[in-house]
Amino acid sequence: MTQDFIGKVAMITGAASGLGRATALLFAERGAKVVVSDVTIEGGYETVKMIQDKGGEATFVECDVTNESSVNNLISKTIEVYGRLDCGINNAGIGGIWTSTNNYPTNNFEKVMAVNTTGVFMCMRAELNVMLQQGSGAIVNVASIAGLSGFPKNIAYAASKHAVVGMTKSAGLEYAKKGIRVNAACPVFTITPLVTDMFDVIGDDMKDKLEASIPMKRFGQPQEIAEAIVWLCSDAASFITGHALPIDGGMMAG
Ligand SMILES: NC(=O)c1ccc[n+]([C@@H]2O[C@H](COP(=O)([O-])OP(=O)(O)OC[C@H]3O[C@@H](n4cnc5c(N)ncnc54)[C@H](O)[C@@H]3O)[C@@H](O)[C@H]2O)c1
Repeated sequence: MTQDFIGKVAMITGAASGLGRATALLFAERGAKVVVSDVTIEGGYETVKMIQDKGGEATFVECDVTNESSVNNLISKTIEVYGRLDCGINNAGIGGIWTSTNNYPTNNFEKVMAVNTTGVFMCMRAELNVMLQQGSGAIVNVASIAGLSGFPKNIAYAASKHAVVGMTKSAGLEYAKKGIRVNAACPVFTITPLVTDMFDVIGDDMKDKLEASIPMKRFGQPQEIAEAIVWLCSDAASFITGHALPIDGGMMAG
């Protein structure tokens, strides 16, 4: 494994589980010092332990991305502990409920937007302020293919992820000359608790239909998404900004 992130610091929100955990583990394997952040404390410490058990360096910082002072504290703590921030991965997200738009409750809509959209915005803002001082940095916002195409029966999720893609493109343009790259990762259904919970709600028939709709005829694995996120932060992606990258077994090509 190439240790091309030695000397770099990566911060990942929502890293107690799923894609965030896989991304934190991969950054650590590639040599980065990792700030593992989540609102879920136990899972966060578990991720840190998994990294340390493999000889990596990581610290847990609790953060609820819907809370502005919690987000600002996360970035301050990152600087306090490791002195810099090279990679900001704004991954924390929730799935919302599975129901038709004409019945979608306002409070659920607002909750999804608060975590998936306002949370990403506030994290990105705090990260940009540090990266502007450094004159360098890479941000990856975790959107979804639901940020690129419609998602029937989950209007809030699609709205929140389209907003993430819009924020990514805007910030990518704004900071292109300042040494800061901003991209979005757009995964298709990937086996994590967020998606297995959804499968429980929609049932096996719908799950099979979703799997069949992916050109590669399978769901993604967290490691496959982590690889793309880490690559977007690496020097190998030095000319890529403002991009929303589908990681989707071919889905968005159709
Ligand atoms: N799994 C998929 O199929 C898939 C597909 C496309 C996009 N995504 C996106 O990937 C991201 C990660 O999802 P996952 O599948 O790993 O889900 P997950 O449920 O396994 O992990 C999400 C993590 O976010 C944390 N979180 C939730 N609300 C938070 C808050 N307010 N503040 C801080 N942390 C919070 C949770 O505690 C959890 O650890 C999400 O943004 C999700 O929308 C997932």
